[in-house]
Amino acid sequence: GDVFTYDPGFTSTASCSSTITYIDGDKGELLYRGYPIEELADKSHFLECCYLLLYGELPSAAELEDFEARVTRHTMLHEQMQYFFRGFRRDAHPMAIMVGVVGAMSAFYHDSTDIGDPWQREVASIRMIAKMPTIAAWAFKYSIGQPFVYPKNSLDYSGNFLHMCFSVPAEDYVVDPILSRAMDRIMMLHADHEQNASTSTVRLASSSGANPFASIAAGIACLWGPAHGGANQACLEMLQEIGTVDRIPEYIARAKDKDDPFRLMGFGHRVYKNFDPRAKVMKQSADEVLGLLGIDNNETLKVAKELEKIALEDPYFVDKKLYPNVDFYSGIILEAMGFPTSMFTPIFALSRTVGWISQWKEMITDPEQRIGRPRQRYIGAPRREYTEIEDR
Ligand code: CMC
Repeated sequence: GDVFTYDPGFTSTASCSSTITYIDGDKGELLYRGYPIEELADKSHFLECCYLLLYGELPSAAELEDFEARVTRHTMLHEQMQYFFRGFRRDAHPMAIMVGVVGAMSAFYHDSTDIGDPWQREVASIRMIAKMPTIAAWAFKYSIGQPFVYPKNSLDYSGNFLHMCFSVPAEDYVVDPILSRAMDRIMMLHADHEQNASTSTVRLASSSGANPFASIAAGIACLWGPAHGGANQACLEMLQEIGTVDRIPEYIARAKDKDDPFRLMGFGHRVYKNFDPRAKVMKQSADEVLGLLGIDNNETLKVAKELEKIALEDPYFVDKKLYPNVDFYSGIILEAMGFPTSMFTPIFALSRTVGWISQWKEMITDPEQRIGRPRQRYIGAPRREYTEIEDR
């Protein structure tokens, strides 16, 4: 029969050409449209990065103002979408709600599902970037039994998200600029990461011509897994389970044990084999935020720092080139801000939305793209005769 390249996990298969994000795993380098992530994290802000990822260039002041106005105009959710949230059990994981609600946007915003029309693609893109914080915040509010808080468009993107999560009708949450800057940075660091599992899922789903809301819902479902976006929740829960510095060696030993499925969450990466540049920025942010909040004696941060130190010197982790990844420090920041661990992955999802959309837009207009249809290596039974039930 036909001969195919057998490449489970696609470790050596390029599925597309792209101009969006560049990663050099050996150097620990990450560029959005050519700009280093460290520089963007320092000088830019999330909506400017969104513009850069979507359109390829940094915006002029006028372009940025126009873009921000367009995003801001779409922050509200259709009022009837509330029934969707209310249909879930209170203890539903917010990622489960997001998969459902984002898929349902196909029905609420059916006008922008015409993928053949560039203008409608643009409207769908802006709608998703604008509404995702509202969806994530409402999933959170619903889970804690509080009323939904409507977006406040006088606030910036990250400040508005914090407002929708932490304000109550009786009292507006006062957004601290340092915290909203830290949130904005988390969003920038997660905005895109070339052909990771969820982005590839979005591309594969939409390669059939599926509408963008349905395709992004598929990406959110993929992101949820603990090997991918679910790692930030799993990592903080692991750090809390370890609890004190003296228990670290036990967990290191388990991570190294071939017969134990346990892995150090927040460690390792398919592409980064030197360090994850996002983790460096995140670590610095964690110090800043905890300093601001006066949490200088945080036991979880102590465990994280000590665990990192021990693992970086341990031959097992050194030989396998396992370094802390973006998820290692983000959870500590989010927890300090007041988020429960179940909200960590939804925050990753809302940040990655722009990446998914940029990649989707690129794919739609790429003449070389065809429906994604991998082949297989068949190792099942050869052709055989049907056996009658009484003869089995
Ligand atoms: N702890 C202990 N051992 C590990 C770990 C870890 N975190 N990660 C990889 N290894 C070992 C693994 O057992 C294997 O050993 P061997 O060669 O002896 O069988 C070797 O290192 C290579 O691992 P792999 O699973 O073949 O590598 P991969 O490229 O398929 O997986 C990964 C990459 C990120 C899924 C994996 O490192 C992992 O499971 N890490 C923990 C989860 C995590 O933090 N994920 C977040 C990734 S970054 C952000 C994101 O995408 O959301």
